[in-house]
Amino acid sequence: MTELRALGSSGLLVSPLCLGGNVFGWTADKAQSFAVLDSYVAAGGNFIDTADSYMHYFPEQGNEPGQSETIIGDWLATRRNRDDVVIATKVGDHPKYMGLAPATIKAAAEESLRRLRTDHIDLYYTHFDRDESIPVDEIVTALDDLVKAGKVRAIATSNISPERLSASLAFSDREGLARYVALQPPYNLVSRDTYEGARREIVEREGLACVPYFALASGFLTGKYRPGESVENVRNLPGLAGGYADTDRGVKVLDALERVATAREVELATVALAWLAEQPTVTAPIASARTVEQLPALFAAQDLHLTDTELRTLTAASS
Ligand SMILES: NC(=O)c1ccc[n+]([C@@H]2O[C@H](COP(=O)([O-])OP(=O)(O)OC[C@H]3O[C@@H](n4cnc5c(N)ncnc54)[C@H](OP(=O)(O)O)[C@@H]3O)[C@@H](O)[C@H]2O)c1
Repeated sequence: MTELRALGSSGLLVSPLCLGGNVFGWTADKAQSFAVLDSYVAAGGNFIDTADSYMHYFPEQGNEPGQSETIIGDWLATRRNRDDVVIATKVGDHPKYMGLAPATIKAAAEESLRRLRTDHIDLYYTHFDRDESIPVDEIVTALDDLVKAGKVRAIATSNISPERLSASLAFSDREGLARYVALQPPYNLVSRDTYEGARREIVEREGLACVPYFALASGFLTGKYRPGESVENVRNLPGLAGGYADTDRGVKVLDALERVATAREVELATVALAWLAEQPTVTAPIASARTVEQLPALFAAQDLHLTDTELRTLTAASS
């Protein structure tokens, strides 16, 4: 039985593994996506992450924004389980609703609600904070309006500078408005400075939850990409999964993962997620699964308690 945990101060209770939704409509078709979602909730998961933009980043692969939300919405309607799951989605990167201007946030939220076939979003993230000419006050106020209207339960943020994160929290507190309850940074064994440091200090000090994305470095931390080997995979792109295989750090991390995984008789992905789950402030790593068969290795991380020596070995390899 998966034990749920508090997501910061939001009042939401979430499972320790958040299911990434960028595969739905991208590397997993509708039937595969339904199967992954069914299997995830059957194993005790209740926390599903998506975005209005998924998955439009690779148009040459025939993807359109909104597909992930539409698939999740159809699944919720078919399974009649809306109240059993915590749905997180994001605003700011959909080609038609780009950025975080208040009018964009308002319009994009309506579109997400329509696609998700629900009357509320549990956790609403700002996806990217690219245009710093928009004052954080305006962004937070627009999000607070959605909370007041009952369309959003809690707000959160992703891909934001430490300065703008602090300023957003200060504004919420000063004005008595909804405040971010979570930060979603890229964070894993081969990408640590994207979170550790100023962002983590703020999250710790302000009592936010950290919900890291790319928890498996797009698949690299499963061990399927090796130096000098070419792997046929749509994620095998520079800057994504395959990009790490030929770096010193990537090689060292795989070696350390392999040693721990062999000793504990688990998969590399399980060890990578267990390491992340043990890091201060981390509430629930987000990982996606393209197939049902990939899920057990992700859930197994909940039962793998790494020793201090194992944690130190992994941390040292990734330094
Ligand atoms: N806030 C943001 O800006 C942002 C950005 C990116 C992602 N995200 C969120 O974070 C989630 C996770 O990121 P991600 O999906 O890009 O990367 P990830 O979770 O690091 O990697 C997931 C991929 O690894 C492979 N995999 C998973 N389990 C495996 C197993 N047991 N054995 C072998 N391969 C396995 C699968 O891809 P293949 O089978 O295709 O190799 C899977 O789709 C996304 O779905 C999304 O919700 C947020």
